[in-house]
Amino acid sequence: MLFLWDDSLTIDDGDIDRDHKFLFALTNRILSAAEINVDKQVLAKLLNEYIDYTAIHFDHEERLMNKLSYPDKDSHILAHNSFFDRLCLLKTAFERNDVSIRNKINAFFATYAFNHIATCDRALAEWCGQHRSHDGALPCPPPDRAAG
Ligand SMILES: [Fe+2]
Ligand SMILES: [Fe+2]
Repeated sequence: MLFLWDDSLTIDDGDIDRDHKFLFALTNRILSAAEINVDKQVLAKLLNEYIDYTAIHFDHEERLMNKLSYPDKDSHILAHNSFFDRLCLLKTAFERNDVSIRNKINAFFATYAFNHIATCDRALAEWCGQHRSHDGALPCPPPDRAAG
């Protein structure tokens, strides 16, 4: 299974949309590499790249949620933390030469990673869509919430 970009996931925030497209492409490279059993070093490099970029991306998303005073920010951040913990467990299993690593990689990306984007990130995208002003700009938080 490969990830196909779906325009309903667009947030119209340049950084985040670019991140998601990049992570989709990287996910597909990892799934393809795991499928054909590439050299372990190649897969290690791809997983490290995914981990590093995920940390950058979560920071982008969390900054946006803070900026917008997004109401579901706390649960979304908890989901990011859980996602990152699972990603680190996957990397540990890979480093320990877990014999079922291919299944674990497939399960992580096909279910867990996909579900995060399809639920938490889609909810953020929909909220941004509903609160965008007529000129297409994302909302500014009211002054009393902007400070917090
Ligand atoms: Fe997210
Ligand atoms: Fe995301």
